[in-house]
Amino acid sequence: MSKLIYILNGPNLNLLGKRQPELYGHETLEDVEANCRAILPEGYDLRMLQSNYEGQLVDWIQQARTEACGIVINPAAYTHTSIAILDALYMFEGPVVEVHISNILEREEFRHFSYVEQRADKSLIGLGVAGYQLGVQHVLSMLQA
Ligand code: DQA
Repeated sequence: MSKLIYILNGPNLNLLGKRQPELYGHETLEDVEANCRAILPEGYDLRMLQSNYEGQLVDWIQQARTEACGIVINPAAYTHTSIAILDALYMFEGPVVEVHISNILEREEFRHFSYVEQRADKSLIGLGVAGYQLGVQHVLSMLQA
């Protein structure tokens, strides 16, 4: 059975491609999924998930404990507010990579702080949607180390 990597996305990322393209680009989450699948080695699979609801993201992170070997997560606005998502990630034992498409450190001050960063093994910030592929690669390299 393939090892599964979860790619989790928070609120408003369902509209990626349409949403503020000057900040987030024109590629959709479907494009991001295809890009990430293209670099998956044999024996690995991924599950691309998006929700606008904090509790749903917590449920998926809990589910990842038994179903996934690694997590790439863009918690979107919950990055800056959600202790619940941080706590759920603390219960996950595999690699966790945080991705932000835009450079949150060069935007409004309220975006500078990330709860998730405190658990993430790596944070990829401001690399556009390429951050997702790099996130998957980082998870793979940690699993293979
Ligand atoms: C984001 C940055 C967050 O501040 C914002 O709320 C998002 C997207 C990013 O990918 O750059 O929704 O996580």
